[in-house]
Amino acid sequence: MSATIIVDALWGDSGKGKASAYIARRIDASLAVRAGIGTNAGASVVLEDDTVIRARQLPTAWLNKNTEVGVGSGVLVDPTVFLDEIDRFDIGDRAYVDSRCAVITKEHIRKEIEDQHLNKKIGSTLTGNGYARSDFVLRTATQAKDVPELQPYVTDVALKINEASARSHTIVQGSQGTMLSLALSTDYPYTTSDNCTSAAAIDDVGLNWQLVGQVLMIVKAMPSRVGAGPLPHEMELIDIEKRGIEERGVVTGRPRRKADRPDLDLLKYSSMLNGPTGIILTFCDHYDPDIMAVSSRDGITSPLKKLIADVERATGAPVIMIDNGKRLDDIIEIAEIPELFNQYSYRGVNIGASH
Ligand code: IMP
Ligand code: MG
Repeated sequence: MSATIIVDALWGDSGKGKASAYIARRIDASLAVRAGIGTNAGASVVLEDDTVIRARQLPTAWLNKNTEVGVGSGVLVDPTVFLDEIDRFDIGDRAYVDSRCAVITKEHIRKEIEDQHLNKKIGSTLTGNGYARSDFVLRTATQAKDVPELQPYVTDVALKINEASARSHTIVQGSQGTMLSLALSTDYPYTTSDNCTSAAAIDDVGLNWQLVGQVLMIVKAMPSRVGAGPLPHEMELIDIEKRGIEERGVVTGRPRRKADRPDLDLLKYSSMLNGPTGIILTFCDHYDPDIMAVSSRDGITSPLKKLIADVERATGAPVIMIDNGKRLDDIIEIAEIPELFNQYSYRGVNIGASH
């Protein structure tokens, strides 16, 4: 039993929300904790009846009814967004926020919207995350423990994730993407406000590394980028429209720029930074629409077989699942999923409460 870290190899918007919900169900995770930056992330999951679940703060793993969800102490919390998600998803009895999370205020959002550098040059999501993190670093931020409306949900999430990972399956859901990392992307200032690697995710939630069982890295078959910055193999908008594969941001509604394939050198670098034990290849239906008609690993189409081989070579890790459509269950498992998650042998960690 151990924690599974889910991160994105490139610029995000790759289906971390879907992967987190799918895996939570498949291994019946006891707890899932959001890592990453804050509410600038947008995860969406399309259910079987086409209902779309949109989340910016809590992990989408709540879709498994046995999974408790929390926000790690390194993640910025917008109380309005947190409380709205608890209400919409009806998960008030199993949702937590770490007492130490720094809080995003209306003032942070207002300042970000007025900030011409972030707005015009960087293409920020303007959700107040950069200004809130800056206050946190300057030690002027308010923490979750000091917000009255959050009191029913405030706890030591770091303690919870360590305890739960020692005895059961858990998930740490990262946000954004490795290539948007503040200190590791080569595209600064076209980055977000913190790192987005597996190591950053482990730190965001206060997890002891010895409790990590799997690091699953999501690779989007047709990588996208919102906001400014380089995008290798970028397609023309007209070609995106011709193929009917347009995408829009969950948080901003902006059209996403898209590439026709992942850059293998970047994947190799990202894999060096993240150390994936497995790869989830997503948006395969955009890459090759014929995959939508396929339901088992024996039927994988040749363009995707080639892509899988390229991605495995570049990352040095096996592709364990691919998705073949937009809904939560549109997944083809390549590895034996439950067995994979049981391989980890626990090394032993001292768990103690804070005071
Ligand atoms: P900020 O973190 O909102 O200031 O945005 C900085 C850059 O990161 C912009 O290019 C955003 O489009 C990008 N970004 C932030 N969050 C996400 C995300 O969840 N998915 C994809 N891009 C993001
Ligand atoms: Mg962080």
